[in-house]
Amino acid sequence: MKNAAIPFHRPSITAPERDAVMSVLESGWLTTGERTMAFEAAVSAAVGSRHAVALNSATAALHLALEALHIGPDDEVIVPTYTFAACGEVVRYLGARPRLADIDGRTLNLTVESVEAQLRPSTRAVIVVHFGGLMADVEGIMALANSRGIAVIEDAAHALPASRRGRAAGSVGSAGALSFYATKTVTTGEGGMLVTDDDGIADRARVMRLHGISRDAWKRYTAAGSWYYEIEDAGFKYNMTDLAAAIGIVQLERAEDMRRSREHIADRYASAIGSSTFASEIELPVWPAADEVHAWHLFPVRLADGGADRRAAIIERLRDVGIGTSVHFIPLHLHPYYRRTFGYETTDLPVATREYEREISLPIYPDLTDAEVDRVVEALGDALRA
Ligand SMILES: Cc1ncc(COP(=O)(O)O)c(C=O)c1O
Repeated sequence: MKNAAIPFHRPSITAPERDAVMSVLESGWLTTGERTMAFEAAVSAAVGSRHAVALNSATAALHLALEALHIGPDDEVIVPTYTFAACGEVVRYLGARPRLADIDGRTLNLTVESVEAQLRPSTRAVIVVHFGGLMADVEGIMALANSRGIAVIEDAAHALPASRRGRAAGSVGSAGALSFYATKTVTTGEGGMLVTDDDGIADRARVMRLHGISRDAWKRYTAAGSWYYEIEDAGFKYNMTDLAAAIGIVQLERAEDMRRSREHIADRYASAIGSSTFASEIELPVWPAADEVHAWHLFPVRLADGGADRRAAIIERLRDVGIGTSVHFIPLHLHPYYRRTFGYETTDLPVATREYEREISLPIYPDLTDAEVDRVVEALGDALRA
């Protein structure tokens, strides 16, 4: 019998998530409301931040954080090139310039040096991505940024729950962005959260997430609400629904259990690949230090030998035997928009380009069984030999 396909991702949804959604559907209140407030309180406690503002994506969280910092057309924001589209586009929403920075080839994260190399007189902020769920040296980058009066925003889209020296991802910088997108470690289908200790950033984000109308605008259709509201600024439609929040509350309760399951999978990949005949052909991801908790959102391996063509062929062979993989990330400076708009060349930011060309992300999610992990490793060996 042919083996069942192993997709790149399967969300882990259990009876409590289903029950939570049903109870919202039956409650008569579907959009932002009591469930959303409860989810905000739970995230703020889990991350250890004073405020948590629920939104419909991490992209919205990054955008609102920059907006609250008054980033505008004359400003630059340092963004790692090795990231998803969201990090650069939010800078463009505000008319500012994303200045792309290279990464450390081992962790695939920004470093103090790579940030320093991109500092300009107009630099106002740095977006630090915790790639794959392993935190970057955000304290080091903060020290540099503080000395220049620059804000640090953590993109913790991959990093719930992750920590470094006892501090949760998202709680170290001026603000952090969490993602609850379908493939993320805690999911609500689509969703995000801005976490911050800064009252000013939180207040501004609460107003701007719902059309720039007064803080409690979401209450206007409740018994306690009022029909009257004032538009304080031209805001956005970024609020989270109670349907999403109800799923999020359950997912957050399960977050550490799910992280442990992914950690088990990471260990199993490492020992199976490490003891295989092709061990020398695969570079494993960096393991967390004793004072780090890795969220293991991704399991990025690198081919020791061969560039983008060989990598594409291996992905194709894995697909042929029903195994889904992905590539994280196509660096921003290689995309047409960044080349056309800012004149980036493929030879710029060489570490990111080199790592991109040999990276493959293997499946890693709580419901992946040991037998499936073993099948992925066996198929990877076959694909390398083909
Ligand atoms: C590093 C990073 N930042 C931000 C985002 C955007 O998250 P969202 O889809 O919740 O807007 C993603 C999504 O994949 C991501 O990988």
